Amino acid sequence: MTVRVRDDLAALEGYHSPQVDVAVRLNTNESPYPPPEAWRQAFLDEVKAITFNRYPDRQASVLRRALGDLHGVAPEQVFAANGSNEVLQALCLAYGGHARSVVVFEPTYPLHSHIARITGSEVVAGGRRDDFSLDPDDVRRVLVRADPAITFLCSPNNPTGTVDPSATTAAVVAAAPGLVVVDEAYGQFAPRSAISQVSDGGGLVVVRTFSKAWAMAGLRLGYCVAPAEVVTALESVTLPYHLDTATQAAGRLALRFRSEMEARVALLVAERDRLTRALSALPVDTWPSGANFVLFRPRARAGAEVWKALVERSVLVRDCAAWPGLDGCLRVTVGTPHEDDAFLAALTEVLGPSGPLRGVAA
Ligand SMILES: Cc1ncc(COP(=O)(O)O)c(C=O)c1O
Repeated sequence: MTVRVRDDLAALEGYHSPQVDVAVRLNTNESPYPPPEAWRQAFLDEVKAITFNRYPDRQASVLRRALGDLHGVAPEQVFAANGSNEVLQALCLAYGGHARSVVVFEPTYPLHSHIARITGSEVVAGGRRDDFSLDPDDVRRVLVRADPAITFLCSPNNPTGTVDPSATTAAVVAAAPGLVVVDEAYGQFAPRSAISQVSDGGGLVVVRTFSKAWAMAGLRLGYCVAPAEVVTALESVTLPYHLDTATQAAGRLALRFRSEMEARVALLVAERDRLTRALSALPVDTWPSGANFVLFRPRARAGAEVWKALVERSVLVRDCAAWPGLDGCLRVTVGTPHEDDAFLAALTEVLGPSGPLRGVAA
């Protein structure tokens, strides 16, 4: 073949978390619990009744109205797509691209810069303080230097778990020349959200997903709450009928089970706090998390070695070494108490005085 892939793409690596066959999978921040059985029944009943020879509702009107009601905004301020990654892609297609820049603050969710680059945008990376919070003065300097079309925030931030104070979000929105996109994939686990700050004529967009708190990663559904003019722009870069009838139904029906979702979140938040407390008794550094995962760094052992030793004990966590500034760090998703106990037992064994990585005692 004589046609080569675009030069800028050839340099990009794909983003993936290794899928290893283990008993305890705590590496991709999914819900360890399935959605309610009543949701499954209602969904299967609707799927049976789909007229499969017809295209889906192109506007996803009923789903967008239901999501608008959930957040107290108009349906015209909601855009839905196949997972929040597709929402992020639509944002970069509509507002990024050649001769435009996108700002991220590392370490953060790598897909923000990855998707930005795929769309031809230049990526400018700012940093974070040692505790992974944003320094407003630093943020302003980066924004002046980059003049970005899109500034990505992530709250709670993947993989650090950091939740931005509302004042920080507001300050970034005030200082940014273009859109500010707050990725709230883990928003339900956190004490605050930026959704109430979204308004028509403003530059703030908040992205959410059904993959985490809603326990529907196997279906692909995400959305954003945005100024209506942004939603119109996103629709203009999206393929016709991109969101199929079954996915629209799945999301619409899930919203009827909001209290079950909130109960699941409360359970996972309590479990996250137990997991954090247990980790703090081990020789690892941890950071406070507002999400369904916890970042930690073994103090005396290389993260990659600990990762491998956990896999050998059939426990899979995320090795974060490739994230800027996270040398030696690992991220564990909050699982069921049983899964978390298995993880803690394996980690204790790996890090403990008699663990194999300690070597032979003198
Ligand atoms: C911060 C963040 N945003 C977006 C996503 C993508 O989620 P999805 O495409 O499943 O909605 C993830 C997935 O892990 C994430 O961590």
